[in-house]
Amino acid sequence: MLIPGVPVLRGWGKGESIRQDTLPQPFPFLSGNQAIFTCGREALYFGLRLLEKLPETAHIPGYCCRSVLTPFKKLGIKIKFYDVGKHLEPIINKNVLKEGDLFFIIHYFGIPQPLSSIKLLCDQLGLILIEDCAHALPDPETRRPMGCTGVFSIYSLRKQLPVPDGGILVVNKTALKSRLQVTPKIKLRNTSKKKSLVMFFDKAAFWAGWPNTLKIKDALRGKVASTEQVFYSKILNNDSIPEISYTTAKTLAHINFKKIAKIRRENYYWLANKLNDIPQISFPFPKLPDGAVPQGLPILVEDARNVCTAMRGKGIGVDQWPANEFPDIEKKNFPRAYYWNNHLLLLPIHQDLSLRHLEYCAKVLVGIL
Ligand SMILES: Cc1ncc(COP(=O)(O)O)c(C=O)c1O
Repeated sequence: MLIPGVPVLRGWGKGESIRQDTLPQPFPFLSGNQAIFTCGREALYFGLRLLEKLPETAHIPGYCCRSVLTPFKKLGIKIKFYDVGKHLEPIINKNVLKEGDLFFIIHYFGIPQPLSSIKLLCDQLGLILIEDCAHALPDPETRRPMGCTGVFSIYSLRKQLPVPDGGILVVNKTALKSRLQVTPKIKLRNTSKKKSLVMFFDKAAFWAGWPNTLKIKDALRGKVASTEQVFYSKILNNDSIPEISYTTAKTLAHINFKKIAKIRRENYYWLANKLNDIPQISFPFPKLPDGAVPQGLPILVEDARNVCTAMRGKGIGVDQWPANEFPDIEKKNFPRAYYWNNHLLLLPIHQDLSLRHLEYCAKVLVGIL
């Protein structure tokens, strides 16, 4: 059996065609103004450029991936890292926060951060709160979905939906909403042929249960250019018009967010329950807070790297995060960020998976441990 780490099936809509002038608002149930870009970091870059005044300093969790830092660096914003706690909440040192600074929060793995206290702090200190929802989809059924609190927020669609690209910028601050009109119009293009081919191959392998595409990708890592290098890393190198692919536009137009959120939560709890008695595993988020649309089931194990390699070898798309994308920070200053990077594993629970897949995932994991 092969279990992909991200969804590959597009069975969630009516499959109608779409024209540029009918492109819908990406998340009709979020009240902010929104725009679509190629990826999350491009949405972040354009969001930062909307601000009346660029902040001098951005406070970013040390537990992050390097790609999220790119827009800040490109705009000359100084980065100060903060560490995260037992539940990935920010560990805040008020002494280093100055009025006008930017405070960046990540809703890791689609699990919302406790935002009310952070928002209060940002309001008191005059900080610009930005929400990174790259691991999430907003929950249409909650009163305050992820991404509706910060000055603006960003999403990255290819981690949650079977799309080759797509980043969403949601602007919540009224004063900035009118400025969003000046962002370039969406230009539909044919999906990159290479990425389409990879996606097609992933889908066929999922159906057939063979070959183990994860093993092939892992073997090729470092030898040929990664998806990241081919598709996303050059995006901010020129200020050309943001584009999204036809595939993404079409998928977004017909997606059933409610159903996806429901399946992900059910799968999350099913797998967590199944593994509950395994002493080598701990669960940092045994209960999902309101509004969570989990990207995966985060677990902590002693030797995440070896377990990850062994499981991928058996065709299960588990991931470490951010693994090789971990930023250059000193271990003595950010012990918890290092801890998370060394011990976290993200088990797949996305909408393509049924109980049969989850059962197999649990069985293989227990066998390896
Ligand atoms: C937390 C987080 N934020 C932002 C990004 C950037 O998203 P994208 O790859 O769509 O540019 C990533 C990428 O993996 C991420 O993990």
